[in-house]
Amino acid sequence: MLPTIEDKPVYVNRMFARIAPTYDLMNRLMTFGQDQTWRREMLAYANVPPRGTLLDVGTGTGDIAYMAMQQNPTIQAVGSDFTYEMMEAGVGKVPGVPLPFAQADTYTLPFPDNTFDAVVSGFLVRNVVDRVAAFREMARVTKRGGRVVCLETTPPSNSVLGPLFRLYFFQIVPFVGSIVARDRQAYAYLPHSTVAFPPPGELAHLMERAGLQNVFYVERMLNSVAIHVGTKLA
Ligand SMILES: C[S@@+](CC[C@H](N)C(=O)[O-])C[C@H]1O[C@@H](n2cnc3c(N)ncnc32)[C@H](O)[C@@H]1O
Repeated sequence: MLPTIEDKPVYVNRMFARIAPTYDLMNRLMTFGQDQTWRREMLAYANVPPRGTLLDVGTGTGDIAYMAMQQNPTIQAVGSDFTYEMMEAGVGKVPGVPLPFAQADTYTLPFPDNTFDAVVSGFLVRNVVDRVAAFREMARVTKRGGRVVCLETTPPSNSVLGPLFRLYFFQIVPFVGSIVARDRQAYAYLPHSTVAFPPPGELAHLMERAGLQNVFYVERMLNSVAIHVGTKLA
């Protein structure tokens, strides 16, 4: 169900290219509209100052970057992603908010060191193979004192709700994906990649290994998603 490490970048790129047209709709359906609440909260943690700059890595259709510019029109956000079709689906999505997109791999962001007041990613890190390298690159383009914030799904715990989540994630989500996106495979990848993803405490350590400091996280939706926050100190 999951691609090999060698195949993963091409597999992920092709998968998002296929599901781009229905990506936003599936997000709203799968999360009962909660995904936008989490994006709002992650932006609060990003703490971008007025007239500040924000990079949204793995921006997809740009939801996080658009939201940042709508919340505060003095902020300049940029969205980067390696899947052209996702960004194409996002161009002009929010009338009057001209969001620039850049096609780029997470490991080699086309920006100088210390460029952005904050760098955020939503549901990206699960898709990359070398997570420490990805966070290190995000930290590189963040200004000193700025934050790197990551919103991601977390593996279901063995608590009493675990079986419920498994049923929802492994059966219902792929079924809805097969109807709405006409792509069961893509929405079966989601639960499998989530189960294989490190739990929040481990992810926090990976961010520290990438050089970020004061790392902390909060969990939401019965611990099925987490927001991690790290700071690039001087
Ligand atoms: C699940 S989508 C998230 C989109 C958006 N951030 C959101 O909140 O909905 C993951 C995105 O990460 C992108 N992505 C995955 N691996 C990447 C990589 N190595 N470099 C750049 N983008 C990548 C995919 O193309 C996809 O658009």
